[in-house]
Amino acid sequence: MPTSLNPASTPSPSCSVVVGLQWGDEGKGKLVDLLAADHHAVVRYNGGANAGHSVVVKGDRYSLHLIPSGILYPGKAAVIGNGVVVDPWKLAEELDGLAKRGVDTSGLRISSRAHAVLQYHKLEDGLRENLLKRVGAERAPSGPDQAQGAVPVSEIGTTRRGIGPAYADKVQRASAVRMADLSRPEQLREKLAIALALKEPMLRALAPEEPALELPKVLDQALAIGARLSPMVCDTTQYLHAMLRDGKRILFEGANGSLLDVDHGTYPYVTGSTCIASGVGPGTGVPSTRLGRVLGVMKAYSTRVGSGPMPTELKNELGDRIRVKGREFGTTTGRPRRVGWLDLVAVRYSAMINGATGIALTMLDVLAGLDELMVCSAYRVGGELVRDFPPDAYDLAKAEPVYARMPGFAEELGACRQRRELPAGAQRYVEMIEREVGVPVEVVSVGPDRAQTMVS
Ligand code: IMP
Repeated sequence: MPTSLNPASTPSPSCSVVVGLQWGDEGKGKLVDLLAADHHAVVRYNGGANAGHSVVVKGDRYSLHLIPSGILYPGKAAVIGNGVVVDPWKLAEELDGLAKRGVDTSGLRISSRAHAVLQYHKLEDGLRENLLKRVGAERAPSGPDQAQGAVPVSEIGTTRRGIGPAYADKVQRASAVRMADLSRPEQLREKLAIALALKEPMLRALAPEEPALELPKVLDQALAIGARLSPMVCDTTQYLHAMLRDGKRILFEGANGSLLDVDHGTYPYVTGSTCIASGVGPGTGVPSTRLGRVLGVMKAYSTRVGSGPMPTELKNELGDRIRVKGREFGTTTGRPRRVGWLDLVAVRYSAMINGATGIALTMLDVLAGLDELMVCSAYRVGGELVRDFPPDAYDLAKAEPVYARMPGFAEELGACRQRRELPAGAQRYVEMIEREVGVPVEVVSVGPDRAQTMVS
């Protein structure tokens, strides 16, 4: 009897995933664009229209929210996997926008198992946020109810795109609507009737001024958009496995960011989905054993949109300067992003939970011109030095950053085309990241253009 398994029988891990190592907006779109050239399909596995991926192709800028950026490549398949929550109206809007610009969208496939974000999910998202804000303000630290040492509860700061309520309904089951249901009138009526019965009392209590949800109207709207999208809806799990059987390579595009992951992020200030690389399995039906490359994308500093602790946040003029130079305003909501120094405790943790095989460092050019760079390599929590990322927002809120100082670099980087052309200060910064995170930096990006990308 053989004593070990034959390595030749292992399927080749020919697929790749691009994943954000921070709180989203790391510049994943550009990396997907770079890697797409070597793959046959680009697939989304999590999130929804909360994401915003910007890609510049031949000088034209595209902002995509739901459609994988592979759509911009003629002949590549673009797939929205079952782990995505699809706002069908936003998707139709995005398809129309691309068609107007001459992009062929016929390669798009949408999983029949993906859940639909309906109008009432968006309404619920906004109303929950308003409520949390109100309750949070009443219970602020000076308020009478605030327990000693507790972190005040506040709104999550969601994108109000209905993401949380749609994922919650998915887990609740009976009333949730999947993309396939949008073209099954009887099934859809059943589901919507339950959904409205469950939601109406809550919506009425939170927003008595809102018009009541009427089943015939909600049903008609859902069927109309279902009819528009149904030619693209299919069993994408089988579709992707057929590609794998043909020896095709698939690129998975992670949305949001690892620190927003519903399990592993700064809970409860997270999104509703599995953002990390292992979300590929549940979010597409392609097992994670097929993943070879896990490219973790990180900015040279930190940003965050919405609420939740961010130990290295710069609430000062320097933060404003980085925000303006880095154009740190949300692609989806336009909100100014919170900005801070690079947090390596967070990035080390993200690289670990993703199994990152390489790092793509973006926005390094934004740090040019600063005399000194501060990098957080540990936290101090209650007088103790901590190098491991705390498990949730309540613990993280108590962390004070411990900084290492590095000399900055004066030179602008936009024209550098090879890593060795970077000024010494920038090279030292990149090497420091490799050392601290223990993962090679394979790509350095110094501007939005494809040409401003150094691959090593
Ligand atoms: P939701 O995903 O709309 O529920 O928002 C939950 C949290 O995740 C909020 O803090 C959002 O600002 C944040 N978020 C969701 N998607 C993204 C993203 O693509 N980039 C950055 N932050 C995001």
